[in-house]
Amino acid sequence: MDNKIQIAEKNFWVGKVDDRPVPFHRLILEKGTTYNSYLLETEKPTLIDTVDISFGVEFVKKLSENFDLSTLKYVVINHVEPDHAGALPALMSKAKNAVIVTTERAKELLNGMFKLHNKEYHIIKDGETLDIGGKTLKFFEVPYLHTEETMMTYCIEDKILYPCDIFSTHLATYELFNDLAKVDITEDFKVYYQLIMSPHRPYVREMLAKLKTIEINTIAPSHGFILRDNAKKFVDLYDIMSKKDTSNKKALILYSSMTGNTGKIANDIYEGLTESGIETSIVNAKSSSIDTVKEMAAKSQLIIIGSSTKYGDMIGNIEDYLKEIVSMDLSSKYGFVFGSYGWSGESIEIINDYLKKSNIELLDSARVIKTTGANDIHLPLRIKFYGEDEKAAAINAGKLAAEFIA
Ligand code: FEO
Repeated sequence: MDNKIQIAEKNFWVGKVDDRPVPFHRLILEKGTTYNSYLLETEKPTLIDTVDISFGVEFVKKLSENFDLSTLKYVVINHVEPDHAGALPALMSKAKNAVIVTTERAKELLNGMFKLHNKEYHIIKDGETLDIGGKTLKFFEVPYLHTEETMMTYCIEDKILYPCDIFSTHLATYELFNDLAKVDITEDFKVYYQLIMSPHRPYVREMLAKLKTIEINTIAPSHGFILRDNAKKFVDLYDIMSKKDTSNKKALILYSSMTGNTGKIANDIYEGLTESGIETSIVNAKSSSIDTVKEMAAKSQLIIIGSSTKYGDMIGNIEDYLKEIVSMDLSSKYGFVFGSYGWSGESIEIINDYLKKSNIELLDSARVIKTTGANDIHLPLRIKFYGEDEKAAAINAGKLAAEFIA
C-alpha cells in the first residue's frame, strides 16, 4: 500500500493501517483499525490529524519522503486522543514552521500531554473558516463526540468532511474507500457507533444539526474507510441510531425552595428533560396534595426530588411527601436529588438517604459517567447559591437523566 493516496485534487490520505489486534477503550479490536491522516498540498500545506503515538516516528519519516515538512503551514487537530494526536510531538519537531489549529480546550490538553507550550497555536471557534491557499477549511466544534475538546473540519471546495472519530469504523482496510470494500461495512459501522458514540447521543443530535448546513460528498474519518460512496447513507444511519423513543416517558420533579434558588434549579432540570422530549411535571411541595404527587410518581419513570437546606435539614413539608414516595414500588424507576444551599447542604444528603432505602435506581455521578461518558456531572446535584454555570449544570443533569429512560 502506498503511503500517500490521493482522495481529491491536492488532497491525500497519509495515514497508517494497523492490522494487529489493537487494545482500545477496554476492548481488543480484533479486526484492527486505521489511523487516517490527511495532507492537503495547497499554497499553505495543511495536515489534518496524525496517527497513533506508537507509529509517530514512522509516520513522520514516511511523510517526509514525499513532502518537505519545513513547508507545512498548519496541523489541524480535531481530537487529542493519542491515536490521532499521538504523532504530533514527533511531527512538530520536524515541521518547525507549522501552526497547530485546534480548539481552546484541545490546546490545554495537548500542552498537558505533550508539552507543546512553545509551539504556535491558531485557536478556532465553532463555524470559523481558515484559508489554506486554494482551499478553505471550516470548523465545527462538536464537544463530547466523544471527548470534550472535539471538533470536525470541512473542506468547502472539496465538500469533504473530516470528522475524526465520528463516522469511523474499526477495520484495518487496505482498500481505503468504501466503494472498494470487499465486504459490507455497515454492521461494523453500526457497532462502532454503539461503542463510541451512542453514550453521547444528545451531542450526536447537535452534530447532525450542524451537518445540515453543509453539502457532503465524502466523509474522511480517522478510523477505517473513507466514505465517498453514498456518504448520505452513513449520516442517515447516525440519525436513525441516535433517535430515541420518548413517547409515554414521564418525569416528576418535586421540590421545596426557601429563597427561590432550588426552584430555579428545578426549572432548569425541567428544561433539560423537556428538551430531551420527556413529559415532565414540576411540583412545588406546598402547592399540591400528597395523593396527587403519588399519582404522578406512579406514572413517572424518573423521580427527581430537591430541597433547600435550613438549619441542617429539609424545608417545609417535603419530608411528608418523601415518606410516602419511598413506600411505593419504585423498582425500574430512576431518580436523583438536588438542592441549593449556603453552608453544608445537608438536606440533599438526607433526601438521598431516603431514596437509597427505597428500590429506586438512584443516579449518582459514578453511574452517569460510566453510562454516558459525561465528565462534568455531579449527582446528587449540590448547588451552592446559583449562577449561570449552575444553571447550565442543572440543565445538563436533566438531559443526562433523560438518557436513562429514553
Ligand atoms: Fe480514535 Fe477517540 O480516538
